[in-house]
Amino acid sequence: MSNTAILEIDGKKYEFPVIIGTENEVAIDIDKLRGTTGAITLDPGFKNSGSCKSDITFLDGEKGILRYRGYAIEELAEQSNFLEVSYLLIFGELPTQAQLEKFENDIRKYTLVNEEMKNIIDGFPKNAHPMGILASLTSALTAFNPQQVNVGDDKQLYDAVCKAMGKFLVIATWTFRKNMGYPLNYYDNTKGYVENFMRLMFELPTGPYKPNPTVVEALDKLFILHADHEQNCSTSTVRIVGSSHAGLFASISAGVSALWGPLHGGANQAVLEMLEEIQANGGDAEKYIAKAKDKDDPFRLMGFGHRVYKNFDPRAKIIKKAADDVLAELGVDDPVLSIAKKLEEAALQDDYFKARNLYPNVDFYSGIIYRAMGIPTEMFTVLFAIGRLPGWIAQWKEMRLNKEPIGRPRQVYTGSPLRPFVKQDQR
Ligand code: CMC
Repeated sequence: MSNTAILEIDGKKYEFPVIIGTENEVAIDIDKLRGTTGAITLDPGFKNSGSCKSDITFLDGEKGILRYRGYAIEELAEQSNFLEVSYLLIFGELPTQAQLEKFENDIRKYTLVNEEMKNIIDGFPKNAHPMGILASLTSALTAFNPQQVNVGDDKQLYDAVCKAMGKFLVIATWTFRKNMGYPLNYYDNTKGYVENFMRLMFELPTGPYKPNPTVVEALDKLFILHADHEQNCSTSTVRIVGSSHAGLFASISAGVSALWGPLHGGANQAVLEMLEEIQANGGDAEKYIAKAKDKDDPFRLMGFGHRVYKNFDPRAKIIKKAADDVLAELGVDDPVLSIAKKLEEAALQDDYFKARNLYPNVDFYSGIIYRAMGIPTEMFTVLFAIGRLPGWIAQWKEMRLNKEPIGRPRQVYTGSPLRPFVKQDQR
């Protein structure tokens, strides 16, 4: 592969460096494009544009490969745990036992959320969507933690990471407690992070609560699978907001809002609602496949397709197996699981889906597991956000430490040329 690319505009040739990534991905570096040619590139949805160089996550959508810091997702899901993977993503290496214990203890220093935050929660209507509340509460944490993090100071940066990991989990579960009308719960610093998630959600002051270890283990795995996914919509949002030197909580809050959309993390809620609708309408998977193929029908098969995976999403493979195991272990016989399997089978044999390389994605089976765990549908995307948090933090940190410039794309203006102002009485 040549190390330069040649571009010809109006008969004039320009040379641009070609950059090769660790896994031989090829990129044309157009940093000097506008300066030397006066032209820009146009790439709606950034389908062909790399926004940064990153050491965090490698993804090969054609081969269905996902690795965090060089480690295969399959191995991490099988052998690691969520806090260890969070450390790996954020700090670059697997922690020693002492480092991991310190990380967990340091997160515990920040698991108390300012009581005044409860006044903000009280202001939300009871039926507010948890993701809307979560975005607002995360943003509100900026007001309660106004001191700017000096990213050049390792200790300040480390503390900011631990604070985000501690407080975000608590407020994420408070969105559910608000919806249910339950009293807000506190983190128990004698228990593990994922076990605390279950306690924060479901423990009531009226009686003892012991999370089911099978559920805790499965959740831990699900969080690992969601922990990072390179420059996806919410992560790019976190990086671009942070590139203005907005704080970590403000950047994460923007990430939560981006994740909420049904084309991104909101798809897990949409999948379950779709499966329930199919079930309510007699379980006819073929009818919904036909709807998804009909260009006059806005319906899409939720949980299918991905911007980068043109092969099986490796996370979906792991989650499909976990769904079978968890439902069997919990003794849950959920008819939507068989509808999901029927739908998957029908879609994978269908020419429309085959031609477009549309495979089940991470969201296709995760909701079925969440439902078996007793988690309400509206909370599904909140769980995605908890899982994605270390990825957002890692990417924000990398962007700041690499001193990336403020994110500010250009555009091709297609509006009216200059025209004279027309007074109101003459319009
Ligand atoms: N059902 C039916 N047709 C689809 C679907 C689908 N789920 N996804 C894509 N297509 C078709 C689309 O209509 C288009 O067809 P044509 O070439 O004839 O116009 C073609 O496939 C390419 O689709 P696209 O929208 O150009 O692809 P994209 O890369 O812009 O979109 C996507 C990717 C994930 C937004 C899309 O596949 C989708 O809307 N899927 C459903 C929502 C979903 O499950 N989202 C979760 C993504 S994974 C979690 C995450 O990381 O966010």
